Amino acid sequence: MSRARVLLAAVAVVSVAALAVGWRLSSARAGDPAVSADPVRGQALYAANCAACHGANLEGQPDWRTAGPDGILPAPPHDKTGHTWHHGDALLFGYIKLGGAGSMREMGVDNFKSGMPGFGESLTDGDIWDILAYLKSTWPEDARQYQAERTRDEQLQGE
Ligand code: HEC
Repeated sequence: MSRARVLLAAVAVVSVAALAVGWRLSSARAGDPAVSADPVRGQALYAANCAACHGANLEGQPDWRTAGPDGILPAPPHDKTGHTWHHGDALLFGYIKLGGAGSMREMGVDNFKSGMPGFGESLTDGDIWDILAYLKSTWPEDARQYQAERTRDEQLQGE
């Protein structure tokens, strides 16, 4: 093969690979429950299920970075001052569905003392995506973009 042909073949292989990755990412987005979620419904679900601890205005509990004498952390804010937006969708979804202890157990950490209950029994997956859509709708653009990148990192790691 001539140099030019080798180069052409290499370009073709790379483009097919890029197409395949692009297709997988876009097909993941197309059926993605995070995309079709309803933030207005999520706001009502948040008020009913989460506001008691995380605050009616997403402000969290006072001194949320300091654990109490029982070793349990107060509920953090979900607005820009907290760190919810530092995490990708899969992590956040799992934390809400399984709770703190259950989610950490899945990651291999046993006996994590958590004040965050699991909602897998009381909320549907769709409810949880709606609540996440509401939280995201309150974040400024830079936080939303950062969080979307963490979600993409999770998707690439999962493949
Ligand atoms: C009984 C109090 C309580 C309720 C109710 C509660 N949480 Fe939490 N949540 C916590 C605490 C405390 C933490 C701190 C981490 C820990 O202890 O596991 C937390 C942590 C979290 C986190 C991960 C931390 C982060 O980065 O923000 C998310 C996400 C979260 N809660 C979402 C929710 C959502 C959504 C609801 C309602 C469906 C909810 N929580 C209801 C107490 C609560």
